[in-house]
Amino acid sequence: MKAKIAVLPGDGIGPEVIAQALKCVHAIEKKYDHQFELHEGLIGAAAIDATGEPFPSNTKKICLDSDAILFGAIGHPKYDNDPSAKVRPEQGLLAMRKELGLFANIRPVKSYPQLLHMSPLKEEKVRDVDFVVFRELTGGIYFGQPRGRNEAGDTAFDTCVYSKVEIIRIAKMAFEAASNRRGHLTLVDKANVLATSRLWRETIQEMAGSYPDITLEYMYVDNAAMQMIQNPRRFDVILTENMFGDIITDEASVITGSMGLLPSASAGASLSLYEPIHGSYPEVAGMNKANPIAAILSLAMLLEYSLDLTVEAEAIHHGVVHCIDRNILTEELLPENPSSTEQVGDAIAGFIAADSVIQTKSY
Ligand code: IPM
Ligand code: MN
Repeated sequence: MKAKIAVLPGDGIGPEVIAQALKCVHAIEKKYDHQFELHEGLIGAAAIDATGEPFPSNTKKICLDSDAILFGAIGHPKYDNDPSAKVRPEQGLLAMRKELGLFANIRPVKSYPQLLHMSPLKEEKVRDVDFVVFRELTGGIYFGQPRGRNEAGDTAFDTCVYSKVEIIRIAKMAFEAASNRRGHLTLVDKANVLATSRLWRETIQEMAGSYPDITLEYMYVDNAAMQMIQNPRRFDVILTENMFGDIITDEASVITGSMGLLPSASAGASLSLYEPIHGSYPEVAGMNKANPIAAILSLAMLLEYSLDLTVEAEAIHHGVVHCIDRNILTEELLPENPSSTEQVGDAIAGFIAADSVIQTKSY
């Protein structure tokens, strides 16, 4: 097949982990006879430095002209301690989500049996954890108007707004995901306090009739945060609004002990973006230490969901398991004998390029 992929490496460790994912892109092209046209664009601090804008119009054009987007990370410490900075890298990410209509952030959380000891939770709590969070990404308090300060400047306000249309389009995806999984959907909200949460519950209740095989439960976000630690195995599909999703997906990302392994998708109606969840991690940027697996698994999600290349995505998954089984792992997972970013990328790309069909029979 021929496909166009927009590649946005971004800031911090973004460029080096995306470089490893691109090794896998090339290995897959060769092995499975595809042609992927790659178009690189600037975003985040890198884009501000070059153009003054965190999401330049040329980058938007590259994205709109592509079949899918592979994204690294955004954020630079020089902006973190400067609340008065007029332009911030994160604005690029929010603008990109809004302008490209990327309304559903999908984060699968799955524990690897080989890495249970890395979890901050007890091993028996994280064994067989396998859930996915659907976080609404273009509404809620992140974007609601009005927002700002009063005239005196001593009072600030943000507004949380949701329409039924926004709720229905992501809820459909979550219901469908649940029917392809274990049939369990948890709506996480704060319906005891917030009007928007009550609209979420009402809307989901109305939709539930069309999905009779799904077991639906409602959970307040504070309770969900607690249960995710106490018994993460109980979750299958979680559906939630933007801000609650931001918070609980960070919580979810660490319970398996391997944040550097977790990919994500931000899906829109016709175009979707794929990114590792770990962020720009400036502390190790440029040091060849960052774990490229989350970026490589994000590529696997891209191949599967945007291009329908399930066999190719599977080859990547097997390549990752190959690395984990053989302890080809970066520092945060194997401090006593770490491999570099490049070595992990080379091992997975090499695995794909080799006769992965024969090798994977053992898994
Ligand atoms: C995320 C990030 C962003 C968010 C920031 C960088 C704006 O934390 O993707 O979860 O809050 O959505
Ligand atoms: Mn976040």
